[in-house]
Amino acid sequence: MFLHGTSRHNDLGHLEIGGIDTTELAKKYGTPLYIYDIALVRDRARSFKKAFEEARISAQVAYASKAFSSIAMVQIAKEEGLSLDVVSGGELYTAVAAGFPSERIHFHGNNKSYEELSMALSHDVGCIVVDNFHEISQLEKAAREHGKTVSVLLRVTPGVEAHTHDYITTGQEDSKFGFDLHNGQAEQAAKNVLASDAFNLLGIHCHIGSQIFDATGFVLAADKIFAKLAEWRESYGFEPKVLNLGGGFGIRYTKEDEPLPPGEYVKHMIQAVKTNADRYSFRVPEIWIEPGRSLVGDAGTTLYQIGSKKVVPGLREYVAVNGGMSDNIRPALYQAKYEAAIANKMNASHNKKASVAGKLCESGDMLIWDIDLPETEAGDLLAVFCTGAYGYSMANNYNRIPRPAVVFVEDGKDQLVIKRETFEDLIHLDLPYKSIVEQK
Ligand SMILES: Cc1ncc(COP(=O)(O)O)c(C=O)c1O
Repeated sequence: MFLHGTSRHNDLGHLEIGGIDTTELAKKYGTPLYIYDIALVRDRARSFKKAFEEARISAQVAYASKAFSSIAMVQIAKEEGLSLDVVSGGELYTAVAAGFPSERIHFHGNNKSYEELSMALSHDVGCIVVDNFHEISQLEKAAREHGKTVSVLLRVTPGVEAHTHDYITTGQEDSKFGFDLHNGQAEQAAKNVLASDAFNLLGIHCHIGSQIFDATGFVLAADKIFAKLAEWRESYGFEPKVLNLGGGFGIRYTKEDEPLPPGEYVKHMIQAVKTNADRYSFRVPEIWIEPGRSLVGDAGTTLYQIGSKKVVPGLREYVAVNGGMSDNIRPALYQAKYEAAIANKMNASHNKKASVAGKLCESGDMLIWDIDLPETEAGDLLAVFCTGAYGYSMANNYNRIPRPAVVFVEDGKDQLVIKRETFEDLIHLDLPYKSIVEQK
């Protein structure tokens, strides 16, 4: 079994993370429990930044907080000198509450409301990543109302789509995000933005996919964007100060996954940007990136308690845990695969096939099919690895299951950073029904 970051077996044969025995964490905080290995988050942040520093390239590494937004995680991002990508009023609110420097906040989204745009301007966020024509007019209105000039990036779809090992190039991107680079919409958007004194167009943004294992897609995207930028310079005299190549760097959920080290993605990007800048005689722009999953994904482990078991003779053993698609919807949503181990039996050979079921009322609520575990019994602790990205942030209350607590561990210390939801929390927005008669 492949252990990430500071995870290891301790002398008691238990899973330890950040120097803490996870069976002790289960006793202290209960289960299910999300545990974050903060040393690993810091290591990732530093690797991305170091690759730019070594190449002496001006850069911003923005944590895509959609992967896991909480006050404490935003504070870690701040400590590590990252920038922050937010996609909603709620993520922006969290960033502000965490005291994140607003000039390093980038505001994304394909349907930002006027109120959200206005909120972003009130907080003087560093830039708004403009996604569509409706937003250009809404943002111009908001900018006038606030008496501010807004720094913007234009989100384009470059016709490169990357997923894990595959990437495809398409003439025209069929995507809900951004302006298409090839059908003239991106150029029209650039023209509109450049024509208005409400905007300061910093440059271009693209995001080509997720869980990407090689750098080819980023290089292709840079090639396509620079070719257009060269045309736009002819027409409008525009030179970009910033090129944001998005996030999507892969992590190792299972042994089949083989991502590049963070610095390698960056090296390829830098090379592609420099080559293109040279080819078209542009100044090398600042390069911004937006890793989410690769900063927090494999730093997260979810600890569950095993309860019931169902053996279908000759077919399968179902082992059920006290969570499921309410705390990790990814397997049900897009057949995401995970590895796991029994945290209190790490030394036992994991060689018996089982399938891990959640406790929610959906047949699709299966966390892992056909995994090798030791013989398990009720009360054992199942640790599912790599749940740090899009786990808590996609958690929900289906079946009125309270969301788990979140704990950070680092250097032998643990701290609660999100409390476990209570049943009272679950009904705190509910109002009692009043009959029509009572209302009269
Ligand atoms: C615009 C943008 N940037 C960054 C990210 C982060 O991607 P990842 O978590 O795969 O790094 C996403 C993910 O959806 C995104 O849409």
